[in-house]
Amino acid sequence: MSRLLDAKKEPEDVKEELSLRPTRLSEYIGQSQGKKNLEVFLGAAKKRNEPLDHVLLYGPPGLGKTTLAYVIANEMGGKIRLVNGPSIEKTGDLAAILSELEPGDILFIDEIHRLPRAVEEVLYGAMEDFTLSILINQNGSSHVLNMPLPPFTLVGATTRSGDLSSPLRARFGISMKLDFYSEQEISEILRRTSKVYATPIEEGAVELIAKRSRGTPRIANRLFKRIRDFASFHEEPKITLGRCKESLEALKIDELGLDDVDIRYLTALIERFQGRPTGLESIASAIGEEASNLEDVYEPYLVMIGLIDRTPRGRVPTEKAYSHLKKSHQSLLF
Ligand code: ADE
Repeated sequence: MSRLLDAKKEPEDVKEELSLRPTRLSEYIGQSQGKKNLEVFLGAAKKRNEPLDHVLLYGPPGLGKTTLAYVIANEMGGKIRLVNGPSIEKTGDLAAILSELEPGDILFIDEIHRLPRAVEEVLYGAMEDFTLSILINQNGSSHVLNMPLPPFTLVGATTRSGDLSSPLRARFGISMKLDFYSEQEISEILRRTSKVYATPIEEGAVELIAKRSRGTPRIANRLFKRIRDFASFHEEPKITLGRCKESLEALKIDELGLDDVDIRYLTALIERFQGRPTGLESIASAIGEEASNLEDVYEPYLVMIGLIDRTPRGRVPTEKAYSHLKKSHQSLLF
């Protein structure tokens, strides 16, 4: 079973999110500054009858990067082609994708920081002047094949903008960072989800789920669905605050929205490593989780709510972490 709080995308989410996804920018909740700018860039591109400049979306998983790519495609009236960076293994794979694009299409590359170097280099020309240049090796000699491409917009998404090479980053005219959502924004998304699923929900339940969703729409929607299961199971047509509380307890989601991975992470930092600055790899092997998963999925929220600090010497738990886990510094000395 997929983890409830892991913001990583599951195949089920892709299907579900399609119906939950807003199609217009005006329906997209949150990210207000980025949304305002995007509205200007979309409007200007449409007026000039040009494709939108290439867009880089970055930030923690589950915050709506793919959703925004769909909104962009819909607003521009183009089709969207979705691909995952690491699945484009060879330059020929990219050439095949690019040669199928039509004018005004959106090419969405998720995890764009994981594109192989050679593929990335072919992408430069495609982004810059809509030309596909590939090196052909034939009978011991090689030549470059240039093929014109239709004007298109590349939307790249990454959880690690720092891992993007500078030549690639420089080719995005528009760059937008997605931040965690406020509880009010998550509440708004949940009210919308309740309408999409035609399942009424009490306002108190909305607020409670919002508090435990780690500022992440994907998690809020997943919690909504699981709690709706509890309500259906008990033949209740509406999600009540009482049922919501009980379900969250059964799902083992604590008041800050932490799950067992967060708790094991914090416990290891405090007990095993005694609160000393600790490297990510050491924490990962201590709790049997992948370092990249901890870094991309778990840590951004732990930093945001002030439970850990990332220092040059390693990760350290804050006072708030000790008190959340009801641990004291002294108890470790004995
Ligand atoms: N579903 C997921 N993210 C959303 C957002 N930002 N606005 C509206 N619905 C969403």
